[in-house]
Amino acid sequence: MHSVTRMSNEIRIGIEAGIVQSNQSSHRSKIAVRQLSLSLGGVPLLRDINLDIRGNGITMVLGANGAGKSLLLKCLHGLLKPQGGEIKIDGSPHFETRQQQAMVFQRPVLMRRSVLANVTFAAAENTDSKEIADLLNRVHLAEIANVPARLLSGGEQQRLALARALITKPSILFLDEPTASLDPASALIIERLIQDTSLTGVRILFITHDINQAKRLGQDVIFMHRGEITEHTDKNKFFTNAESREAIAYLSGELIL
Ligand SMILES: Nc1ncnc2c1ncn2[C@@H]1O[C@H](COP(=O)(O)OP(=O)(O)O)[C@@H](O)[C@H]1O
Ligand SMILES: [Mg+2]
Repeated sequence: MHSVTRMSNEIRIGIEAGIVQSNQSSHRSKIAVRQLSLSLGGVPLLRDINLDIRGNGITMVLGANGAGKSLLLKCLHGLLKPQGGEIKIDGSPHFETRQQQAMVFQRPVLMRRSVLANVTFAAAENTDSKEIADLLNRVHLAEIANVPARLLSGGEQQRLALARALITKPSILFLDEPTASLDPASALIIERLIQDTSLTGVRILFITHDINQAKRLGQDVIFMHRGEITEHTDKNKFFTNAESREAIAYLSGELIL
């Protein structure tokens, strides 16, 4: 009964937000998820996830620690294999489209090489060196292009991780708290770059705990609680008139476990 209520809510909210028109139109979604479930070590961690991501923009993913935000993005990116359900990207099974996706993690994953080598290695073979130089400029790392990545500060490492993701020219970019615990200057550079990237048509899903960041960057918001999506709605509606009990509590600073 619970899932029937949630599905009808999802469609209604989606229509208001211009996100979902009907449950049958998954082929027109950039990302369409149907009844996805994930267990690890026998523990159910994602339950009956249904989601349609359409058009351009940045979708912010919010929810308390342990809600399942990182697991959901890892499933969408093909890093974890769900036990049940279906994920389609532009109408194709998502594991066929992995090449067109990139992910940036909260803790940057870098090679023990120079800044420049990290980006060059991630780039396609025929990538113009000017393109790489331009990107290093945009992430403000051009002046330290030859410094070993392991010597960079946390903010610099995260900017490098983002450059590595962008040089692959993804059509979807998954970002898992990319600015958490960064200095404000690095966070600002990353936010601007993400906004610019979104304007070039890259679809972005962005996990954050920073409500102001979600307000600044988001077009729509997915709210997760205990392995479920309790709502997916337009940003303005979410921040003025959230519907799910869990989201309302989260926004008011209450802790629901
Ligand atoms: N590999 C794993 N094996 C078992 N449990 C896991 C694993 N990875 C994450 N979990 C659990 O799944 C839940 C959701 O994790 P996660 O998606 O990382 O939450 P968050 O919303 O904070 O990103 C947490 O309770 C976490 O402990
Ligand atoms: Mg997480």
